Amino acid sequence: MSEYRIDTSVKPEVKGFFDPATNTISYVVKDPGSNACAIVDSVMDIDYAAGRITYDHADEIIKWVKQHDLKVEWLIETHVHADHLSAAPYIQDKLGGKLGIGRNITVVQDTFGKVFNEGTEFQRDGSQFDRLFDDGDTYKVGGMECLAIHTPGHTPACMTHVMGDAAFVGDTLFMPDGGSARADFPGGDASVLYNSIQKVLSLPDETRLFMCHDYGPNGRDIRWETTVADEKLHNIHVGGGKTKEEFVKFRTERDAQLDMPKLIIPSLQVNMRGGELPPADTSGKRFLKVPLNGL
Ligand SMILES: [Fe+2]
Repeated sequence: MSEYRIDTSVKPEVKGFFDPATNTISYVVKDPGSNACAIVDSVMDIDYAAGRITYDHADEIIKWVKQHDLKVEWLIETHVHADHLSAAPYIQDKLGGKLGIGRNITVVQDTFGKVFNEGTEFQRDGSQFDRLFDDGDTYKVGGMECLAIHTPGHTPACMTHVMGDAAFVGDTLFMPDGGSARADFPGGDASVLYNSIQKVLSLPDETRLFMCHDYGPNGRDIRWETTVADEKLHNIHVGGGKTKEEFVKFRTERDAQLDMPKLIIPSLQVNMRGGELPPADTSGKRFLKVPLNGL
């Protein structure tokens, strides 16, 4: 039984926006009883080789929200992503809403504040966000009750957000044939990730699960929605009653073979600031750093 009480009779409308450049899915989640909505894990476009930032993906979401006359109440980051840049401040500027992330953002900011040698002007207290969620915190989107569940392991600040019968798991789980996300970033831990996955799998069987990423394993089409029941039975890394020992062994061996994500360096610098670009220098220009042998 789950320690978390959720009402799966509340069924929000969930619209996914797939970003082919980073295999990320952003979501607009609409309260079934009003025009209120939340936006989960938005993406800012970057051509890293050219140092060029654009907003086509975010503009698509903004257009959809406006077309459907929705009111954005929350912008949720499931965690500090290492493979894409958040567009939350850009969307917030255009549509409003409060920006929320897990309380342990402070741990992530401390770690990467050091990696990128940020000065004292870089606040490591999460103050770039409007709300820092603790495990079990609730909030509302219109009349819909939402719940934040701390699901660390991939990163220390990872949260799963449950909105009605829909849970946004971030990188805690992938689709059943994708398994799970890596646990080898600073602050990551495969054993902790296993425990967090069990928290998600303790939700009611019919809970809809929405992934942050899908890579279409074995050539299948991109998909991002499954259920707790499906993951419990079929997830290739944790399904069918796999033990923690089996998972940790597999995950640790797999992670040792993985390259760093292509966009980790720009992503961390932007996402640890809540999606803001680093401040301009005295010339008025903004720069990203590349720490040599720092990651
Ligand atoms: Fe991630």
